[in-house]
Amino acid sequence: MTKSRHTSVPHHVAIVMDGNGRWAHRRLLPRVAGHRQGVESLRRCIRACAERGVQVLTVFAFSSENWNRPAEEVSSLMDLLATALTREVPELKSAGIRLHFVGERSGLSERVRAGLAAAEAETASNKGMVLNVCFNYGGRWDIVQAAASVVRAGQPVTEESLGRAMALAHVPDPDLLIRTGGEQRISNFLLWQCAYSELFFSDRLWPEFDEAALDEALAAFAQRERRFGKTSAQVAKAGTQAVA
Ligand code: IPE
Ligand code: IPE
Ligand code: MG
Repeated sequence: MTKSRHTSVPHHVAIVMDGNGRWAHRRLLPRVAGHRQGVESLRRCIRACAERGVQVLTVFAFSSENWNRPAEEVSSLMDLLATALTREVPELKSAGIRLHFVGERSGLSERVRAGLAAAEAETASNKGMVLNVCFNYGGRWDIVQAAASVVRAGQPVTEESLGRAMALAHVPDPDLLIRTGGEQRISNFLLWQCAYSELFFSDRLWPEFDEAALDEALAAFAQRERRFGKTSAQVAKAGTQAVA
């Protein structure tokens, strides 16, 4: 029996960038050094994804639950975001990347909020890869905010109305969800949107997730058969028809 395989790269890749703290710990460095290295790894990953034809990249940078970390680490993550915004936006802009921040902004400082809005405005007319940075994001928060907005608008709650109100409504659902750092869990990332995403868990710590590691994930994705509830025979038949 032949399996239908993808030859193309995933349209939308989502990544839980995990393992910065362990990367630093192994080098006897403070955790913030791992987060700094994580920013470098993200720069490399953005470039690599764009080169490989990924249309949408969504990364998990700070979860609703990450507020529970020591205050010093939280504040260094906020500083890192503010610095990265100033430093990276010109390059993203010239690379044609459209930046979106996804998450609850009311919990963020005025400085960070202004930086996010400015970065989005600067890249809004770009036509290249969409980069969604999930910051102060939680999958449960997203479902609740979507439901609240549907109810406020007096609409019936359906999959369509909720889907339109979700924070990632501007892009199709992720095809591939990668988590680095060896843990095999979702940690309240895209709960609604990952209903049919292919999952790939990498043992690499995020600062060490390089082009070869990305290619390994893309190659694994290419071997998957996505059935969306159908049978393998149905999928194979639809594939043949699409080619014919
Ligand atoms: C991911 O790395 C970054 C954030 C959650 C902000 P971690 O900081 O969770 O790294 P580990 O899991 O402790 O190694
Ligand atoms: C998930 O990583 C959040 C981000 C990568 C931003 P965590 O390190 O917070 O996840 P848990 O706590 O190990 O599940
Ligand atoms: Mg972690």
